[in-house]
Amino acid sequence: MKFGNFDKLATNYAKYRPSYNYLLINKIIKKFKKKTTVLDIGAGTGKLTQILKKTNYFKKIIAVEPSKQMINYGKKLLGKKKIIWKNIPAEEIFFEKNSIDLICAASSFHWFTKKKNLDNFSMMLKKNCFFLIIYNSRKTKLSMDENKIEDLLKNKYNITKRVSSGKIMTKKYLNKILNNTNFRIIEKKIKIDLKKIKKNNYIGAWKSVNDIQVQLGKEFKNFINDIDNILKNKKSVKVYYETKVWVLKNVKPKN
Ligand SMILES: C[S@@+](CC[C@H](N)C(=O)[O-])C[C@H]1O[C@@H](n2cnc3c(N)ncnc32)[C@H](O)[C@@H]1O
Repeated sequence: MKFGNFDKLATNYAKYRPSYNYLLINKIIKKFKKKTTVLDIGAGTGKLTQILKKTNYFKKIIAVEPSKQMINYGKKLLGKKKIIWKNIPAEEIFFEKNSIDLICAASSFHWFTKKKNLDNFSMMLKKNCFFLIIYNSRKTKLSMDENKIEDLLKNKYNITKRVSSGKIMTKKYLNKILNNTNFRIIEKKIKIDLKKIKKNNYIGAWKSVNDIQVQLGKEFKNFINDIDNILKNKKSVKVYYETKVWVLKNVKPKN
């Protein structure tokens, strides 16, 4: 498995990964009235796409996803009404200048942060319209079980750096990526949800995480066994999910 390749993770991802806080996302995007086009980049199995569809604000949703296995789940779960599915990576997206009203990237932005991509997004997105960078990080310090698992990762498996966790996307890091682009951070909105997740579903969610599996390789199986052990007397796990939305404005010059 390689960083960013979700082909083998699709089934666990579709089944066990939680979605985002609907009310928060709905509140942020309700200014986009009907008859607008939204681009969902790295749409995966369609967790955010489903929210975009449910709001009913958009005439057209374009869901872009490079993994065939992931996008197939999206197509199966959400169908093709209002949604155009494109099985390509962010680097190959091309739409006309000023043809898009909103861009979203949910738990995917870290895979395509190059300036070349951001310049292309800015070209397609209308001036002063928004790019939402969304994550769903676990607040592990708030949960005793999750705390133990974090310790295990750090102390037994020597994982000190995450590649794809929303936690890496701090304001400083994001500003560095946005330097010399037309995107400016306008605001950050967060909402924490406590979810009580069945043990097997919780372990299933771990099996859908790309960067830990790549970093641990064959050891990943042992890590999963260790989690099972930590949770041996439990039926469920309390997980605090933080939906975090960075709102970026496309301040491109007039052309
Ligand atoms: C953690 S999943 C997020 C999926 C979905 N947006 C969600 O919120 O559930 C990350 C997704 O980014 C996709 N991805 C990886 N590299 C990409 C790229 N270069 N361009 C677009 N998407 C990419 C992966 O295939 C994967 O489906």
